Amino acid sequence: MTKIIAHRGSKGTHPENTLIAFREAIECGADGIELDVQFTKDGELVVIHDNQVDRTTNGTGEIISFTLRELKMLDAGSWFSPEFKDERIPTFSEVLEVLFQDNFKGLLNIELKTDEKDYPGIEEAVSDLLHKRNWPFTYMYSSFNFDSVERMHQLEPTIPLAYIMGDQPRKIRKAEKISYLEGLHPKVTWVLKEQDNVKKSSKKLRPWTVNSEDDLAVCFELGIEAVHTDYPRRALALRAKNKQ
Ligand code: G3P
Ligand code: MG
Repeated sequence: MTKIIAHRGSKGTHPENTLIAFREAIECGADGIELDVQFTKDGELVVIHDNQVDRTTNGTGEIISFTLRELKMLDAGSWFSPEFKDERIPTFSEVLEVLFQDNFKGLLNIELKTDEKDYPGIEEAVSDLLHKRNWPFTYMYSSFNFDSVERMHQLEPTIPLAYIMGDQPRKIRKAEKISYLEGLHPKVTWVLKEQDNVKKSSKKLRPWTVNSEDDLAVCFELGIEAVHTDYPRRALALRAKNKQ
């Protein structure tokens, strides 16, 4: 059965990468949760997608130019809807605490957002934090930046790793040959176009971002390992309906 991974929490219904979005993902019963990690100016791990705060807060500027204290003053919910005005950019540690408290038992996909910004030491910081406790969930690492994927492989050879990519067939063929990659996370357009190669793949495929009923139905039909979706509640309902 194809797993449903809540992309940035429940990005379609709640402000992405906020605690309320992760709580919604847990509450609706998503099999997995995806989030993006970056560094602040003072070396704290925060969960946010863009390298700038502009799109998802009331501030402007690069994440790396803010201390955690400064980032915490920003409103990370109103841009989505006024009812979320109290949401803040969470630290990675705060998200882990919510998953722990709410007894999340699924898969946490931690994306190292190092594709456009270099964050030296971020792989070590993420790994150190995860080693502090026994978590009720399982976790994996992913990145668009192959250097980060390799670094994680050196640090944590037993933790599942995935390379994220677009829909370039050549890149995907190359990644298929890397034995230590447990998964490939291609753009869903590749899955839709290359269904024969999807069937032949030796990797766990978890495409992004699979939102429409038609795209979800194709992924379910192909028996894809998992989908990243902005609407986990809707995708779970559709999966349940398809099984009847
Ligand atoms: O891991 C899937 C997806 O999160 C990759 O794209 O840009 O949403 O981080 P993005
Ligand atoms: Mg991501």
